[in-house]
Amino acid sequence: MSHFLAALGIAHPLIQAPMAGTSTPALAAAVCNAGALGSIAVGAGSVPQAREAIRATRALTARPFNVNVFCHRPARADAAREAAWTRYLAPWFAESGATPPPALREIYTSFAVDDAMLAMLVAEKPAIVSFHFGLPPDAFVRALKHAGIVLLATATTLDEARQCVAAGVDAVVAQGYEAGGHRGVFDPAHDARIGTLALTRTLARRIERPVIAAGGIMDGAGIRAALALGAGAAQLGTAFVACPESAADAAYRAALLAPDARTAVTAAISGRPARGLVNRFVAEIDGANAPAIPDYPIAYDAGKALHAAAKARGSGAFGAQWAGQGVALARALPAADLVAALIAEMRG
Ligand SMILES: Cc1cc2nc3c(=O)[nH]c(=O)nc-3n(C[C@H](O)[C@H](O)[C@H](O)COP(=O)(O)O)c2cc1C
Repeated sequence: MSHFLAALGIAHPLIQAPMAGTSTPALAAAVCNAGALGSIAVGAGSVPQAREAIRATRALTARPFNVNVFCHRPARADAAREAAWTRYLAPWFAESGATPPPALREIYTSFAVDDAMLAMLVAEKPAIVSFHFGLPPDAFVRALKHAGIVLLATATTLDEARQCVAAGVDAVVAQGYEAGGHRGVFDPAHDARIGTLALTRTLARRIERPVIAAGGIMDGAGIRAALALGAGAAQLGTAFVACPESAADAAYRAALLAPDARTAVTAAISGRPARGLVNRFVAEIDGANAPAIPDYPIAYDAGKALHAAAKARGSGAFGAQWAGQGVALARALPAADLVAALIAEMRG
């Protein structure tokens, strides 16, 4: 697949993962300007915010970049489930002198039902758009392709990858269970939890599209290993979180670089399974006695409110500090230096 990225004018088989809340136009542009593919994530924002992020990235780089959207099944509100959840969270809010929001909202819209976001993307024409959590309707795919946009989508199984190919995406991100951030699994009730090595190799051998390996890759040796498995590129998220260009706050950076940092998958923060640093949210709230978690992203409304309340008192213990299993290899380097180091290591 290096020709797949090379055809877009991208020198290196390296993608900086889209990271909602953490990647920024400055990060993506620095990666693009260093010869890799940078990504911004607009899935958790409004159409005007997404347009602004695209234009801000364009102002910083003339190179192609990737714009990521979320294609989850729209949330199903359930007032009783949401009330039970906020009652359950109340003691943790109380520690910060706060109370949970009186009602939880679906804090952002799935791209799969967002005609306005589609129209904006077709008008702005970023070089690349990527889908996470599933696929949009066929008509959306057709409209994006008609606009000349290259399409990527995350798959966590061979079946999901085949759906991506059937839908017409140009390359598939093989996201292993090691990966930081939200699992791209289409239906979280059926998560096969396949590792990056097995998934990358399976997709490289079984699908007729370039494969992008993602999950636990932190250095050039990891990228080389992914390429040896048949991937055309590697997508790294956690490796870029500590870059000064990211939006990670001080507590997140400190936790990421702590010598005892470890990760776990939880659905308690947002309503969908995601891998993050084991902080108090992950360790205490995702307990056996927790009630049913509201749908994604309704649960995230409460999760973000709890983080904000604790942060106002100086605690980062309830942040969504997403990170992958390779976290102990994280480096705090400017993005251009990190890309240069990764490529030098990859070449050995
Ligand atoms: C902080 C963070 C946020 C993420 N947000 C997104 C996102 O918005 N969209 C997306 O497609 N993937 C997201 N991911 C997942 C990445 O695309 C990728 O699968 C993952 O970072 C690879 O594993 P690694 O973190 O071990 O490199 C996120 C990952 C992290 C670490």
